[in-house]
Amino acid sequence: MDGKYNANDLSQIVEADKAHVWHHLTQHKRFEKTDPRIIVEGKGMRVWDQNGTEYLDAVSGGVWTVNVGYGRESIANAVRDQLVKLNYFSGAAGSIPGAQFSERLIAKMPGMSRVYYTNSGSEANEKAFKMVRQIAHKRYGGKKTKILYRDRDYHGGTIATMSAGGQDERGMQYGPFVPDFIRVPHCMEYRAHDQGLGDLSGAEYGEAAANAIEEVILREGPDTVGALCLEPVTAGGGVITPPEGYWPRVQEICRKYDVLLHIDEVVCGVGRTGTWFGYQHYGIQPDFVTMAKGVASGYAAIALCVTTEDVFNMFKDDVDDPLNYFRDISTFGGCTAGPVAALENMRIIEDEDLLENTNVMGARMMDNLNALMDQHKIIGDVRGKGLFLGAELVRDRTSKEPVSEAEIGAVVDACGAQGVIIGAMNRSVPARNNVLCFSPALISTADDIDQITEVVGKALTKVFG
Ligand SMILES: Cc1ncc(COP(=O)(O)O)c(C=O)c1O
Repeated sequence: MDGKYNANDLSQIVEADKAHVWHHLTQHKRFEKTDPRIIVEGKGMRVWDQNGTEYLDAVSGGVWTVNVGYGRESIANAVRDQLVKLNYFSGAAGSIPGAQFSERLIAKMPGMSRVYYTNSGSEANEKAFKMVRQIAHKRYGGKKTKILYRDRDYHGGTIATMSAGGQDERGMQYGPFVPDFIRVPHCMEYRAHDQGLGDLSGAEYGEAAANAIEEVILREGPDTVGALCLEPVTAGGGVITPPEGYWPRVQEICRKYDVLLHIDEVVCGVGRTGTWFGYQHYGIQPDFVTMAKGVASGYAAIALCVTTEDVFNMFKDDVDDPLNYFRDISTFGGCTAGPVAALENMRIIEDEDLLENTNVMGARMMDNLNALMDQHKIIGDVRGKGLFLGAELVRDRTSKEPVSEAEIGAVVDACGAQGVIIGAMNRSVPARNNVLCFSPALISTADDIDQITEVVGKALTKVFG
């Protein structure tokens, strides 16, 4: 047989999976007739499934996570050595890798100062929300409790983070949600006409999109708004790169109304966009930065809520108040595997110059996608930063009518059939799940990038002619 494995060897695994595993984001009815994909092994940019079929992974583990690629023995060895020394102690105490990684990380985040360890992106965001709420109670007589979030952004799958979710289809059937999360409009220039801003472009559009945030603050009352939570580049909501002029104005508005700025770097964090953090492209200074996926490339679960010293000080300045500290714990925030894997992940990015590679390969992929756009009218827009890119498919470039989610699924399947795993928006924004997503590992070579876009081109021809 051609494949790496004999399918029969894994038939029991497939049966056990089908009988007992509840897959993420999956309608299971189809597994009555077909088998789920089981990923068995990974090396570099490639993974193999239960049939031994090889795939080039253009989405870093499906959800923009495995930034340094698969099969990194140095991370596995570092984790192993740490686990036999000390695997865990509650985060009320410190650990050697916890202290070391915090120091290394903060050196890359000027203006930031404190690292709170937790174990998922959703949880890291919830920690920031809790801090904002506690600050509202401590500092502002319980008033500044509102947290603004943006249309199309995603901050996690828990009920509180879904309350801050800008993807309506994801939220359907999971309400009621938590009060005092307030939506602001998106900043997607390609669909500015949805906002009545269709005649603006570039910095004019960017400033207008930011001004829409100010309007919401004024409508709600600045004395009620504690924080604004945004993705630097929106991921699952359609790979939305911010327009020119947007971020400086956002920062100005936050300062003007004493609104804390929380940047969700769960996808962009640690190299994905060609800088350590996405926000660092835009010269802004956040109060909270949350991160997870790429921090340890999925070699261990780790997530962080990073704050400034000013925020931190608000939780220790009054020792006479028995409530005056962050009364929160995350059990697995005390696992040492996360920070030790993150340290080695960071070393790899530095020693292999992966930020530079991300910029070079990201530019190549953008050029390739633009070339595809010349050949395929179905591509209405391509966007991206570093190795974080998207292609929006529309039936007609003038009306921008989105293709259906089924057609997007057919493109993803056609790529899979040619041995390349790509991503796509998934039941996120009603009738607008029309963006193909690409986030190959930061180790991508020119051949990998060219293979991905060549396969995408063939898939578009197959599905749309
Ligand atoms: C921008 C963003 N924030 C938060 C999360 C939630 O992270 P987790 O799934 O680790 O809870 C995600 C997950 O996709 C994300 O894309």
